[in-house]
Amino acid sequence: MKNIVILISGRGSNMQALLAAKLEGHIAAVISNKSDAHGLLFAQQHGIATAVVSHTNYPERERFDAALAEVIDSFAPDFVILAGFMRILTPDFVAHYQGRLINIHPSLLPAYTGLHTHARALADGVKIHGCTVHFVTADLDHGPVIIQVAIAVLPDDTEHTLSARILHEEHRIYPQAVRWLCSGQVKLDANGKVISQCHNLPAQALISPALDLP
Ligand code: GAR
Repeated sequence: MKNIVILISGRGSNMQALLAAKLEGHIAAVISNKSDAHGLLFAQQHGIATAVVSHTNYPERERFDAALAEVIDSFAPDFVILAGFMRILTPDFVAHYQGRLINIHPSLLPAYTGLHTHARALADGVKIHGCTVHFVTADLDHGPVIIQVAIAVLPDDTEHTLSARILHEEHRIYPQAVRWLCSGQVKLDANGKVISQCHNLPAQALISPALDLP
């Protein structure tokens, strides 16, 4: 069984979705850079080991990442899953977990990297928005895509309603992506390309607004 370490910075709803999914993998630990991350309590209540590596104790990013990696590696993870872990990671850290470090981001990457993705999508008036699970590279919110969901932006959407619908989709795709990783159906090759044995292609295009009926 694969060993999984999850990193969070706050609420931890994606972590909860991963725990609820009863993956064919062992969630060895949940680690946060913030001692008051709500998700830590949830993990503890579910018998999962937790740890805090506070970035405030490490003025230099490299030192923080080294300390974080030491704690992560003490759990011997096959995969390190970023679930709302809001830190920019150094190239050394990312290289150390090459092919084993996964992130979820609330946009259809490569669009809307960074923060406030839903507000920016609404401000731009896009008709389709979504979320992405990807392998992490040294570029913030970039990297080979494992799975994406696209949803329609509704005319009366607010940042709140849009983010709620996207979060619902995040909770569906993240467990799926981790399942594929644990079973070996998805992996990263030496050239940084995703090798996938998942060939269930969606039947329909998403057109938003929908076409007029004939
Ligand atoms: C999620 O929407 C996740 O996609 C996002 O933070 C939120 C964490 O929520 N991550 C990023 O923006 C990474 N760049 P959660 O703590 O409830 O899972």
